This record gives sequence, C-alpha cells and structure tokens, in this order.
Amino acid sequence: MPLMTTKPMFDLAYDGGFAVGAFNVNNMEITQGIIEACAAEKSPLILQISKGARKYAKMNYLKHIIDAAVEEYPELPIAIHLDHGDTVDLVNTCIRDGFTSVMIDGSHHPYEENVKVSADAVKSAHAAGVVVEAELGMLGGIEEDVVGLSAEEYEKNVEKFLTDPVQAADFAKRTGIDSLAVAIGTSHGAYKFKHEAKLAFNRIEQIMKTCPGLPLVMHGSSSVPQEFIDLVNKYGGKMPNAKGVPEDQIHMAVSKYGVCKVNIDTDLRLALTAKIREVFATKPSEFDPRNYLGPGREAIIGMVRRKLHVLNSAGKAEAVIRQWEKLGKPLPSFYKK
Ligand code: G3H
Ligand code: 13P
Ligand code: ZN
Repeated sequence: MPLMTTKPMFDLAYDGGFAVGAFNVNNMEITQGIIEACAAEKSPLILQISKGARKYAKMNYLKHIIDAAVEEYPELPIAIHLDHGDTVDLVNTCIRDGFTSVMIDGSHHPYEENVKVSADAVKSAHAAGVVVEAELGMLGGIEEDVVGLSAEEYEKNVEKFLTDPVQAADFAKRTGIDSLAVAIGTSHGAYKFKHEAKLAFNRIEQIMKTCPGLPLVMHGSSSVPQEFIDLVNKYGGKMPNAKGVPEDQIHMAVSKYGVCKVNIDTDLRLALTAKIREVFATKPSEFDPRNYLGPGREAIIGMVRRKLHVLNSAGKAEAVIRQWEKLGKPLPSFYKK
C-alpha cells in the first residue's frame, strides 16, 4: 500500500463515530510499536513527524523506517504527516520528502498572519496533492509558553484561548484548509490540568455548526494513564501531579462529534520510559539496549492498541482502503483477490 492522504480517513471518520490516531515517531522502536499495534487491530493510522523529530533522527532515516513499515504491512492505510510545521519553507521541504499531509501551525501569530501563512501552505500543498491541517486558538503547555503565560494564568482564562467558532468559519473559507486543529481545553505534555480535567464540548458543537463538514483535530490528547505514571515514579522517576485527558472524554469527542484526528505523543513517551525504567531498576546489570528497548517497544504496542479502541478506529482499515479506491486511486494489490 503506498502512503495515502488523510482524505479517505476523514471522509469516513467525520460521520462514522471514530477518529484516526496520529502518533509521533522519533525512532525505529516507536514506529514499529505503533505499526504493529495498528496491524493487530486492523486500524488506519497517521505517523507524524515534528521538526524536532526531523532534527533528532534525520529525515532520511525516518523515511526509510516508514518505507519499511509500509512494505511490511501492505494492508494498512497510512498517512505521513508533518506535526506543527512552523514555516511554509518547512512545509515545502516535507512535500518534497514525500509527506502526504502537513500541518502549518500559525496559531501563535496574529489572526491575519495565521490566515496568510496557512493559505500559502495550502497553495503549495494542494498543487502537490498533499492535504493541510492548520490551527486556530491556543492550547496550554508548549503553546502557552510561546506567549509567556503561566499554566495558572492559562487555566484561569481558558475560555479566551479556545477556538472562536465564527473566526473558524472565516479562517477555513479564506485558507482552503482540509482540517482544523482546535483549542478545546487540551494541552501538550503530561501536565494538562491543574484542576478538573474537562473538554469544552459546547465549543466543539459550535465549531461544527459554523464549519459544517470540516474535519476537526485534537492536539494534546494523551490520557497519561495513572498506572504508567505510577511505574515511572516507582522506578526512580519524578512526575508528580501528571494528568491527561480522561479516555471517556476522548471517546465522546470522536464518537459523537466531528473530531477525525487525535494526536498522541506523550503516552508513547510514557510507555517507553516506564518500561525502560523498570528494566534498569529491576535488572541493574542489564546493558544490552535490545533488552530494554525491546520491552519498551512492547509497552508502546500495548498503549497504542488501547488507544485504537478509545478512538473506535480498530477494524476500520479496509473501509478506508475502499474509500481511497472510490476517490479514484488504485486498489492496493493486497486487496485484489
Ligand atoms: O506537539 C508536540 C509533539 O509532542 C512533538 O514534540 O516537538 O518534542 O517532537 P517534539
Ligand atoms: P500529547 O502531548 O498530549 O501527546 O499531544 C501530542 C500532540 O498534540 C502532537 O502534536
Ligand atoms: Zn500538537
């Protein structure tokens, strides 16, 4: 199966009561863990690469790892996506590198500048058959740091930072984007809420009314499962007060609303780190990387399988491939029986 855009995935997900998981990849073990979980659950998937991942692993290495995964699992619908692209130059580089989907994140710019940079990204990407996600509103975590807010200040004034539904309609019309990342109470990282963990479902509903049919994307959607925090803390880590988005709220966002893509990175980091810490603490003489990265990869498989059920995307791979064919694309040989 060649890599595909997210269009056939979102076509089905919008009304289909599921969302596609977008998992961040930084190395071979993480990529293998994600793909093996999706193969076991017959789920479509988005592999996303940040600017930091490109710098850490070097794009050529990541590209070859992903190509190997695509070759190994010809039955899976896979999109390769740029996460939080900050310039049109980076978007263009990723298009040349074979990405099928890109994010341009101009959310920290004044509104008119966000419109301009997003529209420019759409122009280049669409000319190459690549789809575009842009962002409006401000998430907590890394994004609040960009504008110099404290977590306390952000949470106190959160309504002010959520995506404005009227502005969202204007933004989508003027940019021509294919999907919109919305601020609805989530934030990046492992410390998402100081007080009650709560998504702004009323805001999602309003955005769906002003932007009918536009696929919505939830960033900062790791659930930070307590058992992994407990493992990290038990084996020498220090992550007090870590808190994620409750899984029942994610399930609700994807099954009842137009959320089509859910971004998960922190939970993969947690699974890998918790397992490696456990091996180091329980087998202090261990020094063969395969004997701690291997269990780490297994932990990622378990974590991703759990997510695919929360997202309702397990079992949806073949339907996405059929939708891809309906869009006029060749049916992969795996499905030609
Ligand atoms: O939203 C950010 C993702 O978790 C990627 O993080 O920039 O550290 O690779 P990164
Ligand atoms: P988490 O930090 O919640 O995993 O969010 C990741 C993300 O939004 C990547 O773009
Ligand atoms: Zn993000």
